[in-house]
Amino acid sequence: MRLRPLLGKPLAAYHAGIFILVAVTGIIISQLTEAYIILASILVVEYIILLVIMLHVNEKYIRPIWKSSRLVDELLEGNYRARIHHESGGSIGELNNKLNVLARNLSEFRMQEQMQEEQLSTVIDNTQSGLVLIDGKGYIHLVNRKFLSMFGGTPQDYRSYLYYDVLENETIHQTVQYTFLYEKNITDSFTQTIDFEKKYIDIIGAPIFDERNMLKGAVLLLYDITHLKKLEVMRKDFVANVSHELKTPITSITGFTETLLNGAMDDKETLNNFLMIIYDESSRLSNLIEDLLTLSRLEKDEFKLTRTTINFNRLINEVLPIIQQRAEQKGISLTTDVTKDITMHADGKRIKQILINLLTNAISYTPENGDVNLSITDEEENVHITVTDNGIGIDQEAIPRIFERFYRVDKARSRDTGGTGLGLAIVKHIVEVHDGKISVDSKLGEGSVFHVLLPKYDKTSP
Ligand SMILES: Nc1ncnc2c1ncn2[C@@H]1O[C@H](COP(=O)(O)OP(=O)(O)OP(=O)(O)O)[C@@H](O)[C@H]1O
Ligand SMILES: [Mg+2]
Repeated sequence: MRLRPLLGKPLAAYHAGIFILVAVTGIIISQLTEAYIILASILVVEYIILLVIMLHVNEKYIRPIWKSSRLVDELLEGNYRARIHHESGGSIGELNNKLNVLARNLSEFRMQEQMQEEQLSTVIDNTQSGLVLIDGKGYIHLVNRKFLSMFGGTPQDYRSYLYYDVLENETIHQTVQYTFLYEKNITDSFTQTIDFEKKYIDIIGAPIFDERNMLKGAVLLLYDITHLKKLEVMRKDFVANVSHELKTPITSITGFTETLLNGAMDDKETLNNFLMIIYDESSRLSNLIEDLLTLSRLEKDEFKLTRTTINFNRLINEVLPIIQQRAEQKGISLTTDVTKDITMHADGKRIKQILINLLTNAISYTPENGDVNLSITDEEENVHITVTDNGIGIDQEAIPRIFERFYRVDKARSRDTGGTGLGLAIVKHIVEVHDGKISVDSKLGEGSVFHVLLPKYDKTSP
């Protein structure tokens, strides 16, 4: 019940009383003879005293009560900032003080409640899984930001609608139904095309119970597990590729050995040829295993570079004899432009591997009598390694893929040169563990340029 109108009535009644009293006194005085003037004056004085008393009563008791009533109204309407500003003593002053304390407490409670609401909605909105809250009748009460980014729309498109009217996915419907039916957590998964990309989504439906253990609704959690699926596919591909790469030389070795054992070894020339093939295939096998071990070592979390101060001139002198021989076999001219005395803090063994892999590729994918150049220059913060060839070049579409494990632009051709498609994957890993960058410029039929930028100083060391 509202208090203000009730308390307003006595105040009005007082004023009305005073008015009537003044009017009656005036009329009486006008009717009286001079003998009664003194009596009338006394009445007027009485009236003034009465008026002063009433004003005092009004100021001290009626107004504070009226203000308290107004404060209670404000509080009932939810305005917890309202306060009483009236100096009064006694029990009314005490009442007003208590009302002010009550208002202050309510205001603090409200603030805490708002903060908790904000924290909760921040958590819900920033969680990396989609979230939907459904009540016991199937109406959606809440959808979070991640859910909207998965399924589109705005909160208004879902809130207060029945879940099966606004969510089309059959798996979601089933998860909600089973969650309500069995009153326990239900998990399932489905695929959904989001922004033209196929996404794999795991869904969990969890029932919500009230304090009497009665089902109140359900919460749905949706996880985007596409990246995990991709990793799984990559792992399966890797195992398939490794198995395939191992199987090919082993089949070849077994086949040629069998033929030799079945009598072919009696022919000296065949024996020689087959042994050469077996030798090549076993070296290929050993190279492949060596490369796989290198990659797995580089990929290990605990992998540590053995950094020392390396001098590139010295490094090149160690690498060139290995490469020069291959270049000469193909009549390729191999030139080097290395700025004198470039040094850097790096893992010498790994940097050598970069040079060997890039130069081997340049020679392998350049026809006979071509040109290959290695240049190493000092560029303020980086050492810039460039390997240039005028060989077969790489198709623009293939460039982003050449650093993938086992990727070869032309499988047959690469096989002829003994390649397994791991060389550039290793180079990329080594460059990355040195915090460097690798890039390629290439034109089909004209040649390729590989750029490696290595920071001279280890940013991770103090
Ligand atoms: N300089 C180059 N010119 C043309 N194509 C290249 C060059 N370097 C690399 N490629 C292409 O990139 C692919 C991947 O190279 P990568 O060095 O990783 O493997 P590979 O040479 O085939 O085998 P290996 O593991 O023995 O090095 C090659 O198969 C080749 O198609
Ligand atoms: Mg290679």
